[in-house]
Amino acid sequence: MTYLRNCWYAAAYGSEVTEAPMARQLLGEHLVFFRTSDGKPHALFDRCPHRFAPLSMGAVVEDQIQCPYHGLRFGTDGACAYNPHYAALPKAARVKSYPLLERHGFLWIWMGEAEADESKLPADFAFLSDPKFKTVFGYLKVRGNYQLVVDNLLDLTHAPYLHPAFAIPGVSLEERFANTTTELVRERERVIAKRWRLNFPPNGPTRSLFGFEDERMDSRSHMHWLPPSLIYFDAGASRLNEAEELGLCLPAIHAITPETDRTSHYFFGQGRNMLLDDPDADATLFGIIENAFHNEDEPMIEAQQARMGAETDVMALDPVLLKSDSGPVTARRTLAALIEAEAIGAGQAA
Ligand code: FES
Ligand SMILES: [Fe+2]
Repeated sequence: MTYLRNCWYAAAYGSEVTEAPMARQLLGEHLVFFRTSDGKPHALFDRCPHRFAPLSMGAVVEDQIQCPYHGLRFGTDGACAYNPHYAALPKAARVKSYPLLERHGFLWIWMGEAEADESKLPADFAFLSDPKFKTVFGYLKVRGNYQLVVDNLLDLTHAPYLHPAFAIPGVSLEERFANTTTELVRERERVIAKRWRLNFPPNGPTRSLFGFEDERMDSRSHMHWLPPSLIYFDAGASRLNEAEELGLCLPAIHAITPETDRTSHYFFGQGRNMLLDDPDADATLFGIIENAFHNEDEPMIEAQQARMGAETDVMALDPVLLKSDSGPVTARRTLAALIEAEAIGAGQAA
């Protein structure tokens, strides 16, 4: 499977990576992550070039990773830095080293051949480092192709069927659909699937968790897709005719990174601009979203993948398309075009 490579993927939470080596597979490649004594994180190809032992089974010794089999050590640039058997360092003994960026609690990895470009990390996720918001984080390993997870997020018409907790008390499904306005917006490489309901009863958690007693509010849930598979979710509810930022803002990150062609790492962080110092709100909000993603979305995506068998591209199976598929389909086409452009660029550079 061909992936977009000259871009940033979420590789791990920063807290996961310590001086003890950690193995993780991304885009089908086995990597080892570790920190050196200065606190910096590093990522290397997780296969010793001598007899192919996983370096992640070794240890970090003097800021170098030591192979567990015959003790060659590799520096953070991937070059062999110490050979305990002979003084000479074998020049060919080198593993690939991957640029990392530690930002907003995540380690972001650049797996392409072009020079890592910090400016390509979307600015949308700055809310994660903004004290005006409190965020709870989670992680799922999904046994499904990463684009199935993106499809799920970009088409929220599944919500009333898979997520009963988000029901609006006293409002029928038909009324809910009839009062939902949608729009698909493209801004360069960004695809935004917008949904909103104006002057309509808010959903259950808006009342029960955040205490709004208004009968009617303006609610929004806008999914911003950014290549390759990052989602910034701009959701919230505000009093009628009130500026959105004065109301309840629930910005979220959904960062999906392929592990293999049929398994995905799914990192999610749910922010809020109210009840910031309330641990009960942390637990309740986390419970709601964990239940939705883990118990409701994840089994569905895994069941889809199981029905698709070895196929990884849903479009190859000639699916029936509904109007609500415009977000997922546009994102898929945009990504396919970027992957193709990257391949052409690489061909020209060769
Ligand atoms: S396999 Fe790594 S030193 Fe031999
Ligand atoms: Fe869902």
